[in-house]
Amino acid sequence: MRKFGTLALAGALLAGLSLPGHAQFRDPQAAVKYRASTMVLLGAHFGRLAPVARKEAPFEQAAVQANVDVVKMLADLPWAAYAPGYEGGEARGDVWTNRDGFRKATEGFQAAVRQLDDAAQAGDFDAFRVAFGKVGQSCKACHDAFRVKK
Ligand code: HEC
Repeated sequence: MRKFGTLALAGALLAGLSLPGHAQFRDPQAAVKYRASTMVLLGAHFGRLAPVARKEAPFEQAAVQANVDVVKMLADLPWAAYAPGYEGGEARGDVWTNRDGFRKATEGFQAAVRQLDDAAQAGDFDAFRVAFGKVGQSCKACHDAFRVKK
């Protein structure tokens, strides 16, 4: 009996862990707010790299890396807030009807961000510029497909 109880408890805990979306947000509004906030921060920190990529500001590795680190961390955060049940905000319904397409868009974005990080760490400006362009395109590609047009 005692053993069964322990197993049941472990099972219940695992079941909880396998519910990433709903376990993390109080309600859909909280999820919308969370993902919009991470997008705003992404815009701010990715945006600070733009003058560097355009050669309007010097490529100072420490400053660049500080912003890339934030972008890299943020690149993992918004997606749990797009779990089923969190429809709304400025996200198109396609996020929930085209799960594969949305997942591919997030993965493409994350791959570009890794490339940006590698270039920043290597202090390689040309590679940084190329990766910056790729990240920017992946933001836009996802917005074109999955964000409500205004
Ligand atoms: C995989 C999809 C995806 C990627 C990649 C993505 N976004 Fe978004 N973004 C969205 C969606 C969807 C919204 C609409 C907000 C919502 O979900 O309710 C949005 C909204 C935004 C907003 C508006 C936030 C607000 O409500 O004020 C900004 C700013 C933004 N994104 C910036 C970026 C930047 C910068 C990047 C790349 C560095 C990026 N996003 C990458 C999907 C994406």
